[in-house]
Amino acid sequence: MVAIHLDNIGASYGRNLILEGITTPQFNAGEVVALIGPNAAGKSTLFRRIAGLVSGPGSIVLEGGADQSICYMPQDNSGTTIMSVYEAVLLARKQGSPLRVSPQDLQIVDETIEALAISSISDRNMADLSGGQRQLVGIAQVLVREPRILLMDEPTSALDLHRQIEVLALVRRLAFERQMIIFTAVHDLNHVLRFADKVMVICDRGLHACGPVEDVITPALLKTVYRIEARIEACSKGLRHIIVDDVAQEQSFSKSA
Ligand SMILES: Nc1ncnc2c1ncn2[C@@H]1O[C@H](COP(=O)(O)OP(=O)(O)O)[C@@H](O)[C@H]1O
Ligand SMILES: [Mg+2]
Repeated sequence: MVAIHLDNIGASYGRNLILEGITTPQFNAGEVVALIGPNAAGKSTLFRRIAGLVSGPGSIVLEGGADQSICYMPQDNSGTTIMSVYEAVLLARKQGSPLRVSPQDLQIVDETIEALAISSISDRNMADLSGGQRQLVGIAQVLVREPRILLMDEPTSALDLHRQIEVLALVRRLAFERQMIIFTAVHDLNHVLRFADKVMVICDRGLHACGPVEDVITPALLKTVYRIEARIEACSKGLRHIIVDDVAQEQSFSKSA
C-alpha cells in the first residue's frame, strides 16, 4: 500500500522563503487530502515542491514499494497543441513509455474520457477548447497515467457546478478504487466537507492545521485563517455545510453607522 508524509518541508523562490517546517502525519492509500488556505499562501508551491519542481529542505517520505509514481496537474493548463483531445489524452498515457499502444491503453483512455463526460469533444482540436473543457482534458491526462499519488492544483476552478461535483465525485471514487492518494487544492470549503477525508491548511508559510476534515474545519479555524464569521451546520440530509455570516472584524472598532 502506498503512503506518504512530509518531513520538515520548506520551499523558496530565490531568496524569497515561501514555506517552512511542514511536517504531516502519514496519508494512506484511498485518501483524498484537500489542500486549503488563503490566496498566495503557498499551496501551488507545496505541490511543486512535492513534485520536485521547486527545491527546498526536508523530505517527502514515500512508502509502499519502489514502483509508486507521483503525478502533478498544475493550476494553469494553458498549453495549446495541434492535436485532438483523444490524442492528447493517449499521449499523456504513454508518457515515458514505448509508443506501442496496447488494448489496455485504449481502454483506460476510453473509460476516462467517458467518466469525465467529454466523449463529445474527443475529436476536437486542443487549441479550440473552452477553459473548462481544457481543464477536463487536463484531468483526463493525469488520471490515465494511473499514478499512485496524484497532486491536483485547483482541478475544478474553471468548471460549472455540475462538472465540479461530477469531477470531485470521480476523484473520490478513483482514490478508493485504485487505492491512490489524491491531494487536491480547492477553494470551495463545502466541497472539502463533502469530498475530502483529510485536510491540510496552509497559512503564514506553514501548516496551520492538518487532520480529518471534521476535526480541522471549524468556525474558529475559518475565523483565524480566512477571517470570516461562519457556522457549520448540518442540512436536512445530514451533510455539513459552511454558512458565512460576515467577514470577521479585524479591529475592535464597531461598524460605524
Ligand atoms: N515562480 C515564482 N517565483 C517567485 N515567486 C513565486 C513564484 N510562484 C509563486 N510565487 C509566490 O509564492 C507565493 C505563494 O504562491 P502560490 O504557491 O502560487 O500560492 P497559492 O497557490 O496558495 O495561491 C506568492 O507570494 C507568490 O507570489
Ligand atoms: Mg495556487
